[in-house]
Amino acid sequence: MLRLSAVSLKDSPVNTLAIPVCEDAAIHDNPEVNQLIEQALQLEEFSGEIGQQVILYHPENTRIRRCQFIGIGPKKKLTAENLRAFAGKAVQAALGVKEKELLLAVPLSGQLGLDPRLGIQSILEGAALANHIFDKYKKKKERAALKQISLLVTPETAKRYKSLAADVEAVALSTLQAREWVNMPSNEKTPGQFAQIVVEAAGKARLKSKILDQAQLQRKKFGALMAVGSGSAHPPRLVELMYAPKNAKKTIVLVGKGVTFDTGGINIKPSSGLETMKSDMAGAAAVAAFMLAASRLKPKHRLVGILPLVENMPSGSATRPGDIVTSFSGKTVEIGNTDAEGRLILIDAMAYAVKQYKPDILIDMATLTGACVVALGERMAAVFSQDDELAGAVVDAGQAAHERCWRMPMPEDYKELLKSELADISNMPSTRYGGAISAALFLSEFVGDTRWAHIDIAGPAYVKKGSDYCGSGATGFGVRLLWELIGKM
Ligand code: BES
Ligand code: ZN
Ligand code: ZN
Repeated sequence: MLRLSAVSLKDSPVNTLAIPVCEDAAIHDNPEVNQLIEQALQLEEFSGEIGQQVILYHPENTRIRRCQFIGIGPKKKLTAENLRAFAGKAVQAALGVKEKELLLAVPLSGQLGLDPRLGIQSILEGAALANHIFDKYKKKKERAALKQISLLVTPETAKRYKSLAADVEAVALSTLQAREWVNMPSNEKTPGQFAQIVVEAAGKARLKSKILDQAQLQRKKFGALMAVGSGSAHPPRLVELMYAPKNAKKTIVLVGKGVTFDTGGINIKPSSGLETMKSDMAGAAAVAAFMLAASRLKPKHRLVGILPLVENMPSGSATRPGDIVTSFSGKTVEIGNTDAEGRLILIDAMAYAVKQYKPDILIDMATLTGACVVALGERMAAVFSQDDELAGAVVDAGQAAHERCWRMPMPEDYKELLKSELADISNMPSTRYGGAISAALFLSEFVGDTRWAHIDIAGPAYVKKGSDYCGSGATGFGVRLLWELIGKM
């Protein structure tokens, strides 16, 4: 789908060309592109301000049918994210007119003040991530994704960054896969079904995998996970995905919360917005999709993805508030609230990961708390870690991917909020204030001294309003973040 192309605008016919235009500087090297921009800037309605768009049809002395100009604002403020947005807008417009291919002009040159590799990567990312249509459940398919997106560059640039397009495409396709899974309705992704879907995808990507079923989970004493799954007609699963290159130095385990639907259980949630709780497996989707990308991109560390999968339902067999269960770690947990189920499945998966794989680094990703959305909104995740270096690495990766992560504190004295009269710990804090923090502190009791970071993606995993390269609903948040993080470790 993605490629770098050194076509000549003079010689080749082009259906649609999109050009990013700065409002105060010339950022293109290509003389034909600069001539076209001159024409566009003659129009009163276009000056290159951010958000402006104009189309010239069959511009003079060219063989271009549709030439779209997109404002990207002042050069000084230009970021990688502006370029992703540019490419996303161009792709969305092309999809709207049922185009099959698209050519994107690339602003390069030293004049840009942006690393050329990053510039190209960002345009590739924005384009690939916007090139997707969710019509799986529509009988009539009105639009189709673009078959080919080409970046117009010089022959030298095309040669130098040849592998970049394929790498970006792999990560983007995985991100789109995560979006597909999260948008999928819960009647098609019960724990058993979703485990099967993931394992099939893993097989195609040549990843090793295994599924623990209900009987195995029972036997191995995943008591907290089983308690969450007990109310559902669809029993829990635990999926493991393995990527093991030769001579790997470190083992990194990634755990993703996989609640295929969260009703809240007996502490049932209010009906408003309940349908969005199909997205409560977005952590698992991001981890699984990232593992698929890893098998193609071959990072140097051993990676294990662990997905605890459950459906949180109220029923005659459901766990009751006040029930006490023994978790995988051996610690007992009072279930003060059946809606705080994510932390219950995570502690069993993480204690298992620590015992089984002795990871150098453990990362969990979860749509864990509404409190996190209140704190940081829909466009940022929270990262919790007692390890400054790891927390910093997650924040930096988030910056690079524009999947932003804000570090939150883990004050030791707040652990008091999790005291239980009867059991070792309660899953329900004694105050609703600081809910994202108390959830992270709860998890911290089950990872021993493993280097660990917890990423709460409850806000950005599933959004009301889309962006230039992502529609509303599932975002695939976390896939590119993990790629930036683990690619640099
Ligand atoms: N899945 C929810 C968290 C959530 C809320 C995700 C909004 C995405 C959007 C989680 O299982 C939950 O219900 N958490 C409770 C915890 C509370 C009962 C301690 C919450 O945040 O209210
Ligand atoms: Zn819940
Ligand atoms: Zn939940």
